[in-house]
Amino acid sequence: MTEAILLVGGMGTRLRPLTVHTPKPMLPVAGVPFLEHQLTRAREAGVDHVVLATSYRAEVFEEYFGDGSRIGIELEYVTEDEPLGTGGAIRNVADRLRSGADEPVLVFNGDILSGLDIAGLVRRHLRAGADVTLHLTRVEDPRAFGLVPTDDTGRVTAFLEKPERAEDIVTDQINAGCYVFRRSVIDAIPAGQVVSVERQTFPGLLASGAYLQGVVDETYWLDLGKPAAFVRGSCDLVLGKVDSPALPGPTGEALVLPGAQVEPGAELSGGTVVGAGARVAAGAVVEGSVLFDGAVVEGGAVVRASVIGREAVVGPRCVVDDAVVGDGAQLGEGNELRAGVRVWCDVKLPDCAVRFSSDQ
Ligand code: GDD
Ligand code: MG
Repeated sequence: MTEAILLVGGMGTRLRPLTVHTPKPMLPVAGVPFLEHQLTRAREAGVDHVVLATSYRAEVFEEYFGDGSRIGIELEYVTEDEPLGTGGAIRNVADRLRSGADEPVLVFNGDILSGLDIAGLVRRHLRAGADVTLHLTRVEDPRAFGLVPTDDTGRVTAFLEKPERAEDIVTDQINAGCYVFRRSVIDAIPAGQVVSVERQTFPGLLASGAYLQGVVDETYWLDLGKPAAFVRGSCDLVLGKVDSPALPGPTGEALVLPGAQVEPGAELSGGTVVGAGARVAAGAVVEGSVLFDGAVVEGGAVVRASVIGREAVVGPRCVVDDAVVGDGAQLGEGNELRAGVRVWCDVKLPDCAVRFSSDQ
């Protein structure tokens, strides 16, 4: 059995206003809090003890998961009063770890949906005798990530977090946000201070000659930290493009949670989720979107590639395409929201208040 640390203390800024009330890993994705997908995948890989490193809205995690017995993992929570950064957060939970100095400890970013063979990564780590093994993936535009070039044996040669200079874009291999650490390497991170694992710990380890191994795995991978990716991830789970033991229903064009009301003549497609107690009226079209619990989409409205927050209302004949509507917001009839627009929580838009096109 292996133990793991889950980093879930970030503020989820790029997902605002969805994260105003709920921390990013607790937002509903394919019908359950995102973390439930990650935890159950870890459990299937043999992880039996997880320490959650929390900070922003820390209480929400324990209220939902408790001691973890429902999902079959022993869960512990450690809260930073002030965020300690990714490396500081890892070090801050070290006294809860039970592994011996040379044993492997998994670390996960709390917003990654992936098809990675987690147990396989741990095996590769042990076989190589690495100090840290990093899951890497390839992306078209690596600039928003940590770039991790490796030599032809897989040894990491540099770690360049979100590089800004063109000459630093040296690879399309990026840090995929899942690591296996030798336990003693965690203990060596300085305690009680803000540390970035990406900007300080990894470059420091490389400078000191430590053996960091990169394992490129090109199965499904997505960081759900921005609205478009958040919607994509939820839809892909519902469509069955990536597997999760926590999906609360069969895969298909839509997942309708218990207590939701989809009127005859409403159209759902593209992996849409209709949350508990939500309502989609006759004549509404919802394509590849996420409706949180209690959301309402009125007749004639079209919702595409968007997130509709808890108890938010999309009025009749609105068009909501590539947009985020915060919890409790109310869109009057005939609004047209597109191109990444975000409506804040509890805002009330009058009828026909926002247009994108000049059509009447
Ligand atoms: N406990 C704690 N404390 N957790 C934190 C803190 C903190 O101070 N800061 C961030 N986290 C958590 C977030 O909640 C998230 O789960 C994870 O650490 C990574 O933070 P993000 O804010 O999502 O980072 P990113 O997506 O910009 O970049 C990271 O992930 C990329 C892959 O998606 C980096 O690790 C990149 O190198 C990587 O490529
Ligand atoms: Mg992220």
